[in-house]
Amino acid sequence: MSDVDEIKSRLNITDIIGSRITLKKAGRNFKALCPFHNEKTPSFVVSPDRQIFHCFGCGKGGTVFDFVMEYHHIDFAEALEDLAQLAGVKLERRPGDTPQQQLKHKLYEINHLAGEFYHYILTKHRLGEKARGYLKGRGITDKSVETFSLGYSPNSWEGVYAFLHKKGYDDGFMEQAGLIIKSQNPSLKTHSYYDRFRGRLMFTLKDHRSNAVGFAGRLLDPDAKEAKYINTSETPVYIKSNVLFGLDVTKAAIQKENEAIVMEGEFDVISSFQAGISNCVAIKGSALTEGHVHLLRRFTERLVFALDSDVAGDAASRRGIEIADAAGFDMKVVMMPSGKDPDEAVRENANILKKAVKDAIPIYDYFISSAVSRHDKESAFGKKKISEELLPVLAKIENPIVQGHYLRKLAQTLGISEQQTMDGMAKVKAVQARGRQPETGEDKKATGESRGEKLEIYVLGLMLQGKTTQWFEEFKEYMTVSDFAHQAVRQIGEKLEAYLVAHKVFLLKDFADSLPKELTPVLDEAYLWDISDFLEDEEQFAKEWERALRQLRRDMLRRKIYVLTREFNEKEKEKGTQTKNERDAMQKSLRELTGKLKALENQS
Ligand code: CTP
Ligand code: MN
Repeated sequence: MSDVDEIKSRLNITDIIGSRITLKKAGRNFKALCPFHNEKTPSFVVSPDRQIFHCFGCGKGGTVFDFVMEYHHIDFAEALEDLAQLAGVKLERRPGDTPQQQLKHKLYEINHLAGEFYHYILTKHRLGEKARGYLKGRGITDKSVETFSLGYSPNSWEGVYAFLHKKGYDDGFMEQAGLIIKSQNPSLKTHSYYDRFRGRLMFTLKDHRSNAVGFAGRLLDPDAKEAKYINTSETPVYIKSNVLFGLDVTKAAIQKENEAIVMEGEFDVISSFQAGISNCVAIKGSALTEGHVHLLRRFTERLVFALDSDVAGDAASRRGIEIADAAGFDMKVVMMPSGKDPDEAVRENANILKKAVKDAIPIYDYFISSAVSRHDKESAFGKKKISEELLPVLAKIENPIVQGHYLRKLAQTLGISEQQTMDGMAKVKAVQARGRQPETGEDKKATGESRGEKLEIYVLGLMLQGKTTQWFEEFKEYMTVSDFAHQAVRQIGEKLEAYLVAHKVFLLKDFADSLPKELTPVLDEAYLWDISDFLEDEEQFAKEWERALRQLRRDMLRRKIYVLTREFNEKEKEKGTQTKNERDAMQKSLRELTGKLKALENQS
């Protein structure tokens, strides 16, 4: 047995979590207020049977290891040591021993060394003179050069290469770290690699635990034809969407202020930090990702965006904001005076940025004013455009009170009735939930699932927690597992069907163990679904099952009708592609489906 399994088998997840937060028994599971996001009603569930936890609010979940890592902001190796001690397990092997861990540590090491090389050139070497002058010109102090590990890559083909080569690192490894690139034309040189970063001001990119994961390099010459910034390409340690520039330095201030100011670039962060605004990070010109959101959520629950671009006008940014909203963030947007970026503002006068941050407006007010500034709110067409843009955004707001507030505000802004905005939103929500094609691609997080997908998981959850064998039969009377739109639910359904054929009794643990690993998050979500209201009362439980099953049948029928109607109409358009028989058959199926739907709707 591995150390991890040994520890898991000796510890009970409910003891570990229960000694840190208050757990309440709910059927076979335990419930609590989630320690990872703000909430008033508990959506955090712990399962002693499965030895896992899951939060339906923020989507966090996993084993006892995941919990302590998240709860204490520690990494896996630290969690392993802590839990081993609690479990009385003596660790045989060093934590960092897996090949993957070893590789990562080697990559941190080589990046760290490369960073020292660049730093040395910048601060000590004559080749760094121009870069020193450049930084001085931008008002960057020596102290910041140290704090943020700045450097300069000499303008040669083998600067860092020669340095690391002398230290005994081999080419393939340097390439894997993203420091050198294989030459297209090896005959030109004695070896076939050259430095990726040449003649650039270097920013060492670090993770929040100060491991050097990669680099960004900025040109000094404003007239050069190359890209102003280049970055390390993705490596096993540099995953762009998980790195926030500056966080290693600024995390303490972020935690203390309970606020992170999200900026665009490296210079924005460094200049602000110098001016005493220390709680900032940079997303490096990308959109806010799920990785960023979860990383920041460890340190704060308030975000202030001080970005160059209009977050409301860009779909990728809107997605990031949705994720942050679902993770419980309070978000604001800074309106920078006269289009300056934070670096420019601070250099003019630190108070400009301080005041702008203080006057930041709540993000949804910002969304409304941004939409109004881009469309004419007086014309009917403009009103349509504005509401088409805003309603889907407002529909995703988790908190109903906050949502109500903004629906009213939108109504006032457009001079329409509140009822009209509410009707509009109901439609948007229906569209968001309906007509989903079978899922492709990876499963979404709990928070990203549509209503229809949630229902499928819920039905699966009822089945697993109730009379599995009997209820599966009932499900099969009306539907087949291939009707599930949620890809993972469909796959679990297929496995469940096979399992029930092969086994007389249903054993959850046995079944769970037989599933491929990638299906367990959805299985757990289903199994942990809190149905403690019904668990005690068999009759009520059965009623709930029937209700949910009817709802699912209705959804599936609607989807089938939708798909078939579209197919029919498309075939009708291309005349002659369809024989009379085919037409009749299709119409007959449609009639049957509609009939079933009607009957079902009359029932409830
Ligand atoms: N960026 C990048 N790659 C590019 C361009 C930009 O990674 N080719 C990132 C950098 O982190 C940059 C940020 O996006 O800081 C914002 O880009 P931009 O607004 O163009 O530059 P500034 O931040 O103003 O950079 P500087 O102040 O150095 O001119
Ligand atoms: Mn700038």
